[in-house]
Amino acid sequence: MAKPKIAYSCTECGSQQPKWAGQCPDCNAWNSMVEVVAVAPVAKANPRFSGYAGVGKTEVQSLADVTPGDVQRTPTTQVELDRVLGGGLVPGSVVLIGGDPGVGKSTLLLQTVALLSEQLNTLYVTGEESLEQVSMRAHRLNLSADKVRLLTETNIEAILNHAQKEQPQVMVIDSIQTIYTDLSQSAPGSVAQVRESAAQLVRYAKKSGSALFLVGHVTKEGTLAGPRVLEHMVDTVLYFEGDTSSQFRMVRAIKNRFGAVNELGVFAMTETGLKEVSNPSAIFLSRHQEQVPGSVIMVTREGSRPMLVEVQALVTESHLGNPRRVTVGLDQNRLAMLLAVLQSHGGIATHDQDVFINVVGGVRVTETAVDLPLLLAGLSSLRNRTIPKDTIVFGEVGLAGEIRPVQGGLDRLKEAAKHGFKRAVVPKANAPKRGAVEGMEVIAVERLVDAVDVF
Ligand code: TYD
Ligand code: MG
Repeated sequence: MAKPKIAYSCTECGSQQPKWAGQCPDCNAWNSMVEVVAVAPVAKANPRFSGYAGVGKTEVQSLADVTPGDVQRTPTTQVELDRVLGGGLVPGSVVLIGGDPGVGKSTLLLQTVALLSEQLNTLYVTGEESLEQVSMRAHRLNLSADKVRLLTETNIEAILNHAQKEQPQVMVIDSIQTIYTDLSQSAPGSVAQVRESAAQLVRYAKKSGSALFLVGHVTKEGTLAGPRVLEHMVDTVLYFEGDTSSQFRMVRAIKNRFGAVNELGVFAMTETGLKEVSNPSAIFLSRHQEQVPGSVIMVTREGSRPMLVEVQALVTESHLGNPRRVTVGLDQNRLAMLLAVLQSHGGIATHDQDVFINVVGGVRVTETAVDLPLLLAGLSSLRNRTIPKDTIVFGEVGLAGEIRPVQGGLDRLKEAAKHGFKRAVVPKANAPKRGAVEGMEVIAVERLVDAVDVF
């Protein structure tokens, strides 16, 4: 085989250059050039593109003439995982699972493969652990191991050779960062290696119709390591999140070509592996004996399920020129923005206060319904005044000081009522008709100034 040509591609704009440079000559981004295998521009003549839709004989069709074949989904027998996958595994699809070290990615996939191997041909490829380590884990998890096929290999060409022989319907690669290809000379784990190996795996999946799970590492910042392009190449991107000090773990769909995004699957890490939590709505409440200042219960809606979580705030006098704004489980910029709105439209200044916000249980809340609970928790701490225990809050806060409605208001109220909450502070546009939610007193607020004096 002729030695493949090496080129350098900019990760920002995608331009290709024959030589490396510190600055991209096209978009002027610094430090963005990475080594890639040069691709001939003619896709048809290039076997690297075979397997993608649209390669080969093509013709223009009317959309109405295209009848979608039913997507065959294989349930993974883990309801929570199926939920984030959109109902099960799709043949030929590639799922990327990212998460912090030790969160349980390998555990989840080994369990899944063991369960699936009862009905399908599976292959678990590990580049991180030895076969003994995997076997120890399987014993600990009490998995039936007789049908699980294992392989320790990090060379992608060798892996694909084995796969051609084994013909697995489901294959796991743990992890993509350890895999390297002969086509590129850069070190394993580098952007060029990860991208090229992933591209070969995606092609293999599309061609063979086997479903692929790729494990990906995350960086310090919490995004998937390696190029962003990895997320573009695959069909589904899942994040495995959770505080390793708590037993609960969440799998979140960030991208899904075969289902809804932002669905959440909840698991608990136990002595014998990950167990599904089928009714997670109230597991993240800390249930204080006495109500304490700075704590607010909110109803968040992750995917299709409402969930009760506790938002805690600590507001203390700052002795720093730049007071601290620290969040756990929330976007820090959003906090800074909300504090500015609080000052402008609520008349409450926090420029001399440090503000710390935490969402209990390692939950990450990405929706804007957390705005109002966050501000009320902060106010409760600032004024050292408790918010009644049986109260829930949700609502988005706009830059003009208005309280905006959020999706699924009625669902959220019903869920809270189910868990015995008696009072709700909600956006006016979300307030249901009187008596629509039994036993729930609804306090509708329209502007931030109204909300700050509710308690
Ligand atoms: P692992 O799946 O190796 O994490 P990852 O592949 O994401 O790095 O998870 C390992 C952690 O899970 C480890 O800290 C021990 C814990 N664990 C349990 O608590 N119970 C179990 O049954 C297993 C297998 C692991
Ligand atoms: Mg692992």
